[in-house]
Amino acid sequence: MTPEKKRLRVGVLFGGRSGEHEVSLASAASVIRGLDPDKYEAVPIGITKEGHWLLGGAAQKMLPEVLRSGQRVTMTADPTDAALVPLDRSGGGQRLDVVFPVMHGTFGEDGTIQGLLDLAGLPFVGAGVLGSAIGMDKDVAKRLLQAAKIPVVPWITVYRHEWERDPRSIQKGIEQKFKYPVFVKPATLGSSVGMTKVHSRSELVPAISLAAEFAMKILVERAVVAREIEVSVLGNHEPQASIPGEIVPHREFYDYAAKYLEEGTQLLIPADLKPAQVKTIQKYAVAAFRTLELSGMARVDFFVEKKGGKLLLNEVNTIPGFTSISMYPKMWEASGIPFRGLIDKLIELALEQHREKARTKYAIELPEGIGGALEA
Ligand SMILES: Nc1ncnc2c1ncn2[C@@H]1O[C@H](COP(=O)(O)OP(=O)(O)O)[C@@H](O)[C@H]1O
Ligand SMILES: [Mg+2]
Repeated sequence: MTPEKKRLRVGVLFGGRSGEHEVSLASAASVIRGLDPDKYEAVPIGITKEGHWLLGGAAQKMLPEVLRSGQRVTMTADPTDAALVPLDRSGGGQRLDVVFPVMHGTFGEDGTIQGLLDLAGLPFVGAGVLGSAIGMDKDVAKRLLQAAKIPVVPWITVYRHEWERDPRSIQKGIEQKFKYPVFVKPATLGSSVGMTKVHSRSELVPAISLAAEFAMKILVERAVVAREIEVSVLGNHEPQASIPGEIVPHREFYDYAAKYLEEGTQLLIPADLKPAQVKTIQKYAVAAFRTLELSGMARVDFFVEKKGGKLLLNEVNTIPGFTSISMYPKMWEASGIPFRGLIDKLIELALEQHREKARTKYAIELPEGIGGALEA
């Protein structure tokens, strides 16, 4: 075999229909740079904000260019078909060996894309359908974490339809449980979009109405005064946790502007923590990874309360930011796994997980002739 034939074709899915489309472009560009060209052939697949799938050709070196003028393709749910089929059915399809979805948020990190990849029979990096969906739903994730005795910030879940029907009694319930300030956030979004720190009663209604534009479920949480500590987890059956890092936002909280628009937030790796704290954080991060049925990778974010030092798990991200300066790869780098080695490991884990899935039977084998008798 020539070396060319042995290279794995890695479909890098980027862009997408979420509010984190732009972030995805930056993450995907660094994932593509991190794919060792001796081992992998990167196949960039851009998804536009409208949901068109565009396949990058050799001429398109830049990802925005793929989104502008790539070839329209579709991924079929037929596992015996080529993975990517030109939309106009001109020419043959394109085979892929593994897919790296680098799309944050809705339709990328929430299990929907993972479902399509499962139907297509393709190995892919990161959590599967269930883990992705759980990881994206802050309410369901917190319920499972609580059942596993992993400490989380106290919260109330408000269903949008109930809020619209009876806002007064919901407001009463919130005020019985919490003192202001509280945080109001959509249950199924990232990047701090639709989120408000509510300082007093007058701000509550607009905050919930805003969050309700972005999700069917809204979380109201006690506002904690805390340091923000993050840790990277990597693995399938035996997940490992990295050295933790710390985010020090320069704004009132780590909002959209602090994340993407303004400089000033400090990223500290390693975080200044006592060895015992590091151990506890790593233990809870791995426990959360298992509890939430994750695989491949996740970034697990914690609060450490400034008064008393209590540790609370805030959220997990199953497709964390992946630019070369993002926390997930940086924390691994500090823990001894360089960027390229990390990408290798993630692809290896994707293939391992796929082999594991392939061992599972989905039906029993029926003796010949019995099919007719089952018609009912
Ligand atoms: N209960 C809370 N108390 C204090 N700060 C919070 C709370 N919830 C969220 N925040 C702040 O808002 C940021 C974003 O919230 P998070 O729940 O992580 O949502 P996202 O998925 O959008 O990142 C956090 O990093 C933190 O700065
Ligand atoms: Mg967050």
